[in-house]
Amino acid sequence: MKDNNKVIIFDTTLRDGEQAPGASMNQTEKLDIAYALERMGVDIIEAGFPVISKGDFNSVKMVSKHIKNSTVCGLARSIVKDIDAAYESLKNAKKARIHVFLATSKIHMQFKLKKTKEEILRMAVDAVKYARNKIEDIEFSPEDASRTEKQFLYKILEAVIKAGATTVNIPDTVGYAVPSEYGQLIADIKNNVPNINKAIISVHCHNDLGLGVANSLFAVKNGARQVECTVNGIGERAGNASMEEIVMGLRTRPDYYKCTTNIKTQEICRTSRLVSKYTGFVVAPNKAIVGMNAFRHESGIHQDGILKERTTYEIMKGEDVGFVETGLILGKHSGRHAFKVRLNSLGVNLSDEELNKAFEHFKNVADKKKEVYDEDLLAIVDDEVKVFDKVWTLVSLSSRTGTNIKPKVDVALKSKGKIIKKAASGDGPIDSCYKAIESIVKIKGELLDYSIRSVSRGQDALGEVTIKVKLQGKTIVSHGTSTDILEASAKAYINAINKFLALESAK
Ligand code: KIV
Ligand code: ZN
Repeated sequence: MKDNNKVIIFDTTLRDGEQAPGASMNQTEKLDIAYALERMGVDIIEAGFPVISKGDFNSVKMVSKHIKNSTVCGLARSIVKDIDAAYESLKNAKKARIHVFLATSKIHMQFKLKKTKEEILRMAVDAVKYARNKIEDIEFSPEDASRTEKQFLYKILEAVIKAGATTVNIPDTVGYAVPSEYGQLIADIKNNVPNINKAIISVHCHNDLGLGVANSLFAVKNGARQVECTVNGIGERAGNASMEEIVMGLRTRPDYYKCTTNIKTQEICRTSRLVSKYTGFVVAPNKAIVGMNAFRHESGIHQDGILKERTTYEIMKGEDVGFVETGLILGKHSGRHAFKVRLNSLGVNLSDEELNKAFEHFKNVADKKKEVYDEDLLAIVDDEVKVFDKVWTLVSLSSRTGTNIKPKVDVALKSKGKIIKKAASGDGPIDSCYKAIESIVKIKGELLDYSIRSVSRGQDALGEVTIKVKLQGKTIVSHGTSTDILEASAKAYINAINKFLALESAK
């Protein structure tokens, strides 16, 4: 029996999320994220826009081949070649959906498409009928719906449902809507589109005014039963509504929304970390649900309250979203077994080979650092367990730097058993280090972004460096961790080079 209070979670991290400038991911990374979304219980995964590039087509095809529990969706304009490409990439999926869209607001019709209302109506109906002949599960989006004239919106929704659309999505494409007004739009659609009970109403809200989540939740309150969202809220411009905030909003206030989702919320933080790692978009510490501080209490009054009764200052439990609280867990005397057991309890299961590498790294860290926290362990695993082979590894690093001294860094790298050493001087220690690495590997890169954060607490905390670097026209995001920030920076650059070489050899 259909559950009228179930909200379908449609994740578009791999499509709209990837449209965020600088967020592009390779196929292996996309598949990893698709697995994480499936494990989390996402109902529909929008895996890409197949007609847009060969890479997008192949990613949708690959996700279709491997994902079994979630429906896999591909985006298409209301054009035959787009729908054909979507169908071709999706045809091996266990459950597939084609998502067809066409702009319906006056501004878009007049200036972008240069078409009349009648032409738009005909194109939408033809596209939905064409797609429905290939696949049963069809979603239609009137792009810029929140700025579309209401009577025209009702008319086009009625027509596409008649043509076979099973879900109608109401995008707030430019993040212009206001919660009460957008909620009212959903209620009006329910009351004015005669055949609306034959389709699910979906919402898709952008965050230009910071209202993406609020608009989505108001829409649910008014009858929407599918929400389109992205992990960490990544997406075009200011992003899309954030999946973790929507899911936890519904879960924390069942008294108000009276709705549930299929999401296994304990998987939220782990998935958030994965998306952050692959896109290089660092999650702000105060980000709701997945920020490092989201479940931490600093004020003495709050801490006192929490100790007396948790609910005085906590409306959700960290463990419900898989938040890993900092706790002293292992030290230099800990053995391989304790290390493995602790990783398993954090939801990380490694092969024997991966475990050996990670354990060796852990021992090095534990030698330098008195206290090893859960966050440190996760960073170590991220650093060691890569989805690509390591052609180059760091052997040693030494630097000479200071006030009024030209910095100089000596680097030794190893590849296929051979050690190569070089020294270089640059603007600062990191520039010098990267120049030395480049002269060893004989690849020159352009550093686009560099950030460093402390993984856990204390002066001896592990530093995690995230870089975005352009290598022969390809943008690569990578990370490196160490208690020494120059070493973390070197590791991040070597990881980027290894990732680039793996991509090149896969070609
Ligand atoms: O924001 C938007 O309108 C979209 C559509 C393609 C659904 O992403
Ligand atoms: Zn969008």
